[in-house]
Amino acid sequence: MYRRLLPTKNNLKMRKNNKEVESILQGLINKRMRAMEEGEKSENDLLGLLLESNMKDVDENGQPSQGMAMEDVIEECKLFYLAGMETTSVLLTWTMIVLSMHPEWQDLAREEVLGLFRKNKPEYEGLSRLKTVTMILHEVLRLYPSATVFSRKTYKDMDIGGVRYPSGVFIEVPVLFINHDPDIWGSDVNEFKPDRFAQGISKASKHPGAFLSFGWGPRVCIGQNFAMLEAKMALSMILQHFEFELAPSYTHAPHTVMTLQPMHGAQIKIRAI
Ligand code: HEM
Repeated sequence: MYRRLLPTKNNLKMRKNNKEVESILQGLINKRMRAMEEGEKSENDLLGLLLESNMKDVDENGQPSQGMAMEDVIEECKLFYLAGMETTSVLLTWTMIVLSMHPEWQDLAREEVLGLFRKNKPEYEGLSRLKTVTMILHEVLRLYPSATVFSRKTYKDMDIGGVRYPSGVFIEVPVLFINHDPDIWGSDVNEFKPDRFAQGISKASKHPGAFLSFGWGPRVCIGQNFAMLEAKMALSMILQHFEFELAPSYTHAPHTVMTLQPMHGAQIKIRAI
């Protein structure tokens, strides 16, 4: 992709960074491949599975076939790192900010967490019973979606909402705007009201499919359950051990740098409990 860009200063920098990332990944992959070729059992992780698929397809067919090419393996590694890391970390950041702004919800969430786990390490079974925490995370994802847009391309002439589009048109789905549309969510759309998710996502708005923070359809976020689990685990552990509030230096200014982030950082005062 970067090879096709105009050679501007920024694009050259991106190309250089991309090359560096790819060479780091290639190094990791080579190391893993050598271990696998030497008969070591592949590690039980995503990279191991991708490489097994890559090696199997080459072996069985004697030539590179429909299996994953090494280029694809590298692209998947980049995608999982980008799609999986930053998104969940900004969700947690916004959750800390919002719960600092709404101490009554921070208290309710802590009460629920302590009721289920006391000060013990949260376990899987209990995490799926967290109702208030789940409502809070959904409401944070509505107000501050980590990914503010996602896109689709028409693959044939088609009619969408009464508009005719030819094949090959890119359509941006403006998640941030949809999540803040009073016609969909009601006149309190800009308020933090986790209660709207009390009956689940499909009943939270006037349209059952309006919550698009994880995308929609066949390409919906593959990591959404994992992300929610991670966020619940991290938030539970924070709530078990700390109370928090915004520092006076915090300035509320959401802005987009790939993901939606607090422009001036998240200065939060925490107190061990
Ligand atoms: C709060 C956390 C997350 C948010 C808000 C989020 C959001 C999204 C969105 C909006 C999309 C585009 C979906 C579409 O086009 O319909 C997406 C795709 C994707 N996400 Fe996530 N994501 C999160 C966490 C994760 C995690 C933890 C992983 C991996 C472990 C992950 C892996 C992916 C992948 C691989 C795709 C591409 C799926 C495809 O194109 O088929 N995401 N995510």
